[in-house]
Amino acid sequence: MPTLHFRGLDAGDRSVDAPLGETVYEVCLTHDIEMVAACGGFAACNTCRVRVVTGKLSEMEEEVEPPFLDRDDQRLGCQACIVGDATLLLDPGDV
Ligand code: FES
Repeated sequence: MPTLHFRGLDAGDRSVDAPLGETVYEVCLTHDIEMVAACGGFAACNTCRVRVVTGKLSEMEEEVEPPFLDRDDQRLGCQACIVGDATLLLDPGDV
C-alpha cells in the first residue's frame, strides 16, 4: 500500500497508509489529519489544497481544479487520488 507523507502539520510531520484510488481528503479523514474541506469535497472551494513535494497524484481533470489553484504543484485534496507514494504539504486557500 502506498504511503503519504504530510509535512507542516501542527503536530509535526506524519506518514500514513494511503489506499490506491482514495482521495487525499479521504486519507486525511481516516487518519484524523487536519484538512479543511469547506465545501464538503465537491471541488467548490480551495481549503483542501495541498502542494505535491515528491511523488505524484492522479491526473488532474483540467476543467475542475485549475480555477482553485495558484501554483503548478498544487492540487485539491478532495479531487486528487492516490497512485503511489507522495509527500504533501497542506496549503489551504481562503478558509
Ligand atoms: S473541499 Fe472544497 S474543493 Fe476540496
